[in-house]
Amino acid sequence: MKKITIIGSGYVGLVTGACLAEMGNLVTCLDIDQEKINSLLAGKIPFFEPGLEELVKRAVAAGRLTFTISYEQALHNAELCFLALPTPSHPDGSCDYSYVFKATAELAKHITDYLIIINKSTIPVGTTGKVREIIEDVLDQRGIDIPFDVVSNPEFLQEGTAIHNCMNPDRIILGLDSQRAQKVLQQLYAPFKDQIQIMDIPSAELSKYAANAMLAMRLSFMNHLAGLCEKVGGNIEQVRQALGADPRIGHRYLQAGIGFGGSCLPKDVDALCAIAKDHGHSPDFFRMILEVNEQQKKAFFQKILSHFGSLEGKTFAIWGLSFKPNTDDLREAPSLDLIKMLTESGAALRLFDPIAMSNAKKILGNSSQLKFCQDEYDAAQQTDAIILITEWPEFRSVDFSKLGVLMRNKVLFDGRNLYDMHEMENLGFEYFCIGKTKQPAKQWIV
Ligand SMILES: NC(=O)c1ccc[n+]([C@@H]2O[C@H](COP(=O)([O-])OP(=O)(O)OC[C@H]3O[C@@H](n4cnc5c(N)ncnc54)[C@H](O)[C@@H]3O)[C@@H](O)[C@H]2O)c1
Repeated sequence: MKKITIIGSGYVGLVTGACLAEMGNLVTCLDIDQEKINSLLAGKIPFFEPGLEELVKRAVAAGRLTFTISYEQALHNAELCFLALPTPSHPDGSCDYSYVFKATAELAKHITDYLIIINKSTIPVGTTGKVREIIEDVLDQRGIDIPFDVVSNPEFLQEGTAIHNCMNPDRIILGLDSQRAQKVLQQLYAPFKDQIQIMDIPSAELSKYAANAMLAMRLSFMNHLAGLCEKVGGNIEQVRQALGADPRIGHRYLQAGIGFGGSCLPKDVDALCAIAKDHGHSPDFFRMILEVNEQQKKAFFQKILSHFGSLEGKTFAIWGLSFKPNTDDLREAPSLDLIKMLTESGAALRLFDPIAMSNAKKILGNSSQLKFCQDEYDAAQQTDAIILITEWPEFRSVDFSKLGVLMRNKVLFDGRNLYDMHEMENLGFEYFCIGKTKQPAKQWIV
């Protein structure tokens, strides 16, 4: 059992803290956001993540998980201190690591004994070294010499399956240069010993960016190919099946759609471009991944515009706002770009998301063009088309005959290829999706 402090109690920090407490450790989660900590102390989870509420409740009841805004309290007797702080993008795309540095300077004021600082935030190559320098400076100012180590331990969890990812990691990357820290971390992660990969610090730092860029690249590749499918009369789903069957390629992250979003992929690819540039390496390859993604959202909007000619006076149902299903996270969600393009063209929108409504209200605010609706049927009332943006499972099994009666026009723009083109046409819908052209319903294949 280790005494652990987590600095930053957002998606990564809280999930990590709850999972480490579940594994038997004593964990204190700290945040500077008083409201967040108050809500956690009151037993409320400030964001949606399946299974997290139960896990937190169990750990709190067992006395293994506490919350605070006090650095002094959080670091009292701590052996390990995880950093799970935001690393958003600067306007030029480079990583803003100021949150990490501020928190580091603050924690250094409260170190009293050997401490291992483990960074889980996604930060550019070299930042682990800067964290070390900041701590050295603060200890110098305090006139004391306390040993400490800094480790890079990038996080690979995915929102929506974060608990499962944490409790069943496919890899634990430890970038370190200290045998003492290595020994302690091998003890901490002993249940996952086969997944531990020990490496030098720059490789560990880069591995997170590399993973996200690779995933984003697959998505942009498929989205770009989907555009070509539409031009040559092909079907991206069939191409995907063919590609995925190759064991060197595999099926995952090959789904064409309206573009990727979320708190990680866009910002991390952007930061990778900046890292490459800073080190005199061409960022062009990585930059293209982002350009294709931007184009994809615009191309989807163009489909809607081309169908109607003008969007002035039109009303659309928007199904799904979060950047992917099973999360209420709207950071860099493609829905926000689409909503902007549609409203700027004069359309009124009826919005629905199964989980992200309250976040969406905060971000989108009040507007005469936006109406927040009760459910997908309410959203579809008197609309000229449904625009599906997030593939929530509940949208798979809607009653289309009921929808047909509610809508002004039976038109569906499917941004995630959730439905079958022929079924939709049989239901009397004009159906538009990504990367598929109309082909005979009964093909020659038997
Ligand atoms: N969200 C994900 O799916 C995910 C996955 C892997 C890696 N990451 C990376 O992990 C890091 C954290 O991401 P997140 O999604 O958890 O962010 P988040 O915004 O949800 O949480 C960060 C928390 O840090 C707090 N904070 C800011 N400054 C602080 C300070 N000085 N002291 C204490 N707390 C402070 C904020 O109030 C916030 O609650 C980022 O670098 C991100 O790229 C995120």
